[in-house]
Amino acid sequence: MISAVEEGEIDMVSKSKIQVVAVSDYEELSREAARRIIAVVRQHPASVLGLATGSTPEGTYRELVRDHEEHGTSYHQVTTFNLDEYVGLAANDPHSYHTYMDQHLFRHLDIPQGNTHLPDGSAEKPEAECRRYEEMIRQAGGIDLQLLGIGVNGHIGFNEPGTPFSSETQVVQLDESTRQANQIHFEDPQQVPTHAITMGMATILKSRGILLLASGAKKAPVLQRLLTETEITPDLPASILRSHEDVTLIADQEALSLVEADLG
Ligand code: PGA
Repeated sequence: MISAVEEGEIDMVSKSKIQVVAVSDYEELSREAARRIIAVVRQHPASVLGLATGSTPEGTYRELVRDHEEHGTSYHQVTTFNLDEYVGLAANDPHSYHTYMDQHLFRHLDIPQGNTHLPDGSAEKPEAECRRYEEMIRQAGGIDLQLLGIGVNGHIGFNEPGTPFSSETQVVQLDESTRQANQIHFEDPQQVPTHAITMGMATILKSRGILLLASGAKKAPVLQRLLTETEITPDLPASILRSHEDVTLIADQEALSLVEADLG
């Protein structure tokens, strides 16, 4: 896959390879996503998982925790890398993605804390932190399965429209649409950070498998673009996923409401 992210080598209008799994609602989406992650971990107990934050994966994490408690799936040998973290927030900040991951997932599993990784948003030298993070992923042997959400503007991770497909882990400025969407997690809209460290587009695309989740009517317009437009363009960052060999989109009825007829 690495070669596909070298600009110029992508077939810019290739037929989408994205496998679409249509589910009825958010609950089913969460169960289906968790089922697939659990299958990977059970088959390969030392898997490297790429994880995401935001509203969408909360139910998936709840299901992983439930399964761990009820069926004992172990994460003892699993390594995780999260997509992103806000710049300026310390790990213990209540709004940091470190805190989100700890609350929703890590503290409930048997995963050693040292196996879990997020970019350090409070690093004094964010650019150096980006290089360190990229190198850690490489040293872990790359990501087996990356969980992804999609922004209303088509971003993946925090790679906003216009981000080159060749980008590695980097500091980015957040779009106003992203800051607005994320306001619900902050008491004061002004508190939403303006910058983040995110895995780059190339970093994400090197993942051997990708599980993209989309739920709710808010995501219907962007899924319509992703699934019905043919051009692969940085204007719609997620469009590059059409060129990846192993992408599964799990989407609920509302998110697919503008495309379902086309999918048959
Ligand atoms: P959401 O975010 O899950 O909160 O909708 C998705 C994203 O911005 O990638």
